[in-house]
Amino acid sequence: MNILILGGGGREHALAWAVKQNPKCARLICAPGNAGIAAIAECAALDITNGDAVAEFARSNGTDFVIIGPEAPLAAGVADRLRAAGILCFGPSAKAARLEASKGFTKEICDAAGIPTAPYARFTDPNAARTHIRRRGAPVVVKADGLAAGKGVVVAMTEADALSAIDAMFGGAFGAAGAEVVIEDFMEGEEASFFVLCDGETALAVGTAQDHKRAFDGDRGPNTGGMGAYSPAPVLTDAVADRAMTRIIRPTLAELARRGIPYQGVLYAGLMIADGQPRLVEYNVRFGDPECQALMMRLGGQALDLMLACAEGGLDGARVNWADDHGLSVVMAAKGYPGEYETGSVIGGLEALPQDSLHMVFHAGTARDGGGRIVASGGRVLGVTGRGGTLAEARARAYALLGRIDWPQGFARSDIGARGV
Ligand code: GLY
Repeated sequence: MNILILGGGGREHALAWAVKQNPKCARLICAPGNAGIAAIAECAALDITNGDAVAEFARSNGTDFVIIGPEAPLAAGVADRLRAAGILCFGPSAKAARLEASKGFTKEICDAAGIPTAPYARFTDPNAARTHIRRRGAPVVVKADGLAAGKGVVVAMTEADALSAIDAMFGGAFGAAGAEVVIEDFMEGEEASFFVLCDGETALAVGTAQDHKRAFDGDRGPNTGGMGAYSPAPVLTDAVADRAMTRIIRPTLAELARRGIPYQGVLYAGLMIADGQPRLVEYNVRFGDPECQALMMRLGGQALDLMLACAEGGLDGARVNWADDHGLSVVMAAKGYPGEYETGSVIGGLEALPQDSLHMVFHAGTARDGGGRIVASGGRVLGVTGRGGTLAEARARAYALLGRIDWPQGFARSDIGARGV
């Protein structure tokens, strides 16, 4: 089978690595890919948000199956375009991708389906938003309605921070994504990620994870796209996962179907869990990054079978073969991230590291320079990942790998998974 993966981050390296374990994969192309992906797949330059270009590329390369990694092509309707061209594809339609592309739309679905989530209000007028914040007080959560590369959510612990977020969003910090904001009550509890495959009819849970959003140890510093993750999430017990399926995931899918929007792809629910009761924080319409790195390490080659079953409408009867294992991924980022950072610094020591079912360094922002050396080309650069029979073992493996990477211009948190252990 000829497979095309769209994207070029750590998530896509992990997806490519898992897909390659499966003997069904004969040829793998990744667009645009990165230096790590290039070691296991062909990389191609392609505008992955242009559905016509992607469909033409897939057709001319004899692609049998397209896996869409990030949210931007999904929101741009690339999955719709591929399906219209008769190309099998993993990822929801643009209408379904509004679950991530519009925070207000998700709240509307929650209202219609009675899904537990934080009380909220939507605003297009900054003064009305400010009045609402003064009336409700802090802590409060301010969200840009649209896609903002993971930076559009501010958990404001003071009224002043919430008002600054309003100024930034309506001031254009996130472009059109901030033209509307959702303001919601702060929820207490422990946050975890729940990943469910949906084929339009059947939903199948494929794993849980916990992410570390702040840049520095002890959950300090600015919010990032994620500095490390581990899977499974201890707080998302089977009982909590069952409740999330019954009260959140299935009602969401049913409400979408009622509106003529069948969901096909992975649905990533960010949940806040308190006293064993899950409430919805947000939806994403793709795998989490770096949660995917920890999850793919555990799923291995069966990930391709599951994504294929999802795309073909065959999840009924599919099951996940779980091992009793744990995955943990530590992100190495360029110093300065998530603010200003430099690119082009050389990363040494990678070639000597083991790469097997217990150890992987997934590349996120890397490239090769003129001399063939691996250099940093983004903010989040590597996902140093271990797997083990316990979380402590997975964690020890990941940090042992990290200790052998020679990159003075990079940094990582030293406490990923520490609380879980
Ligand atoms: N790690 C958070 C996300 O992928 O949105």
